Amino acid sequence: MTPSLPHPVWHDGDPGSDDAITLLTLLGRLDAHLLGVSTTHGNAPLSATTHNARALLLLAQREDVPVYAGALTPLVREPVFAPQIHGVTGLGDVELPTPGREVRSEHAAAALIRQLCAQPGEITLLATGPLSNLALAERLRPGVLRQARQIIVMGGSVDVGAPKLGNTTPRAEFNAYADPHAFHIVLGSGANLSLLGLNLTRQVAVTRARAAQLRDTGSQAGRFCGALLDDYLDRIAKLGQTAGALHDPCTAALLLAPELFESEAARVEILTDSGDHLGETVRVEGEPNVSLVIKADEVGVYELVATALGHLA
Ligand code: BDR
Ligand code: CA
Repeated sequence: MTPSLPHPVWHDGDPGSDDAITLLTLLGRLDAHLLGVSTTHGNAPLSATTHNARALLLLAQREDVPVYAGALTPLVREPVFAPQIHGVTGLGDVELPTPGREVRSEHAAAALIRQLCAQPGEITLLATGPLSNLALAERLRPGVLRQARQIIVMGGSVDVGAPKLGNTTPRAEFNAYADPHAFHIVLGSGANLSLLGLNLTRQVAVTRARAAQLRDTGSQAGRFCGALLDDYLDRIAKLGQTAGALHDPCTAALLLAPELFESEAARVEILTDSGDHLGETVRVEGEPNVSLVIKADEVGVYELVATALGHLA
């Protein structure tokens, strides 16, 4: 097993095919340090994303990691799901064994507060879905997100010299659009935030060759992730899209190999007024509130993910 990081990690997400690859990458590298997994509405309803998280832990033979179900809905807006990208189950047509262990009774936001307060300054939080759980925690206990060592968020689409395009509306990225009010709360929390938007994740393309690279790692987890990428490519092809992006796993790669990325301090805000601009993230003048990740080493990210998956069963 590759040596893991000295500090603990928490994954909050909405699995989701790319969330699934993120979680399995973490499990392949951080077996002793993944403190917990929390789930939210997002790519699929909460019941499905929670089921998927538990099934993924079973696949990785890590059912000892606790799973906490969180936000059933966004804070203000109505829920939006992404069956066209992730299927109605969240994991496309790719099947997993049925998990046995029950989900914990504690709400994800309460669990996050408890854990962050117990280990101030120590926990790295990876957030790969709508930010509802993080925002709820911050609302219940103002300042709690500042107790995280680092929060790495996949979300938004901030202009870095190129045209700014959304993937859910012409202007908005999915996680930002699915709970823009939560995104606003997290951006304003004063936490140590790293933000990976579409401008970054589109540098790490999903192709048939990349799916094969994951499938060929020799593990069941690798075959599963390769199948997820093939399923994703099939689905986006039906939508007339040719270019896929490995969004969420970039958060795990940033944590595990920051040298694969370049970042710069920026101030980012999100538009929460309903209408065409809902969920649009913008870079503005002023005191920086994020470390905006602007460049990725695509080859290095895939090597890291494949190596981690190869460590699993
Ligand atoms: C994000 O939206 C979801 O569909 C993916 O899981 C990722 O978190 C990309 O916009
Ligand atoms: Ca996600």
